[in-house]
Amino acid sequence: MVKDAPIGVFDSGVGGLSVLAEIQRLLPHESLLYVADGGHIPYGEKTPEFILERSRRVAGFFREQGAKAFVIACNTATVAAVADLRRDYPDWPLVGMEPAVKPAAAATRSGVVGVLATTGTLQSAKFAALLDRFATDVRVITQPCPGLVELIETGDLDSPALRLLLQRYVEPLIAAGCDTIILGCTHYPFLKPLLARMLPPTVILIDTGAAVARQLQRLLGERELLAGGTPQATRFWTSGDTEHLRNILPTLWTSSGVVRSFDG
Ligand code: DGL
Repeated sequence: MVKDAPIGVFDSGVGGLSVLAEIQRLLPHESLLYVADGGHIPYGEKTPEFILERSRRVAGFFREQGAKAFVIACNTATVAAVADLRRDYPDWPLVGMEPAVKPAAAATRSGVVGVLATTGTLQSAKFAALLDRFATDVRVITQPCPGLVELIETGDLDSPALRLLLQRYVEPLIAAGCDTIILGCTHYPFLKPLLARMLPPTVILIDTGAAVARQLQRLLGERELLAGGTPQATRFWTSGDTEHLRNILPTLWTSSGVVRSFDG
């Protein structure tokens, strides 16, 4: 692997752009590739076998592109695929993501933590293990959020329909006394401005994008693979509608970009 090779970042859709932004902020010299599996979104209600198969195709594509590292910028795909992908590519720096239970358990003052995530993430054995490990001293209220990802995919971050749905999902958490809410899906950080208006000001929101960028920096640093020069423009692919992704990129990403079709 060479230092100026790109880093592959993957999500079921546009959610991983929230992670891509953190990576670009921390590692501005890195060239980035982004694949959205928009033709198969949402992952939240799909089987782990299906998501693993899709993740393997994306991993193979990033290898073909010469990517020096792979970031699964999706909590749902991480629980379904990270262990197998690590076995498939033992020497490839690979970063997955999981809901930030440990920092949330440390941050809560009420002792009640809420988790907003997909059904797939919340039902996984990996998430149960995370709670066993880090949440023994706090109460955790989990809330699956079907429908939210689909709205965010359209570029909707603040419509009446979205506000209604989100209100339904956060209300039980607030009623239960949560003062710390984990955004356990990479799509949800885009709703932070809306959540900040909706929630009591004492509630803290925690997501893992920045931690993932730091972990990536650590892994590349250990292998002396951090880039130092001028990066190439970020390249985007989607298995869904390329025109649609191109149109919403300026809203969810820092700029417009070239979007190609991914038919893996
Ligand atoms: N963005 C993904 C996550 O972090 C999942 C969205 C989906 O349901 O496809 O879990």
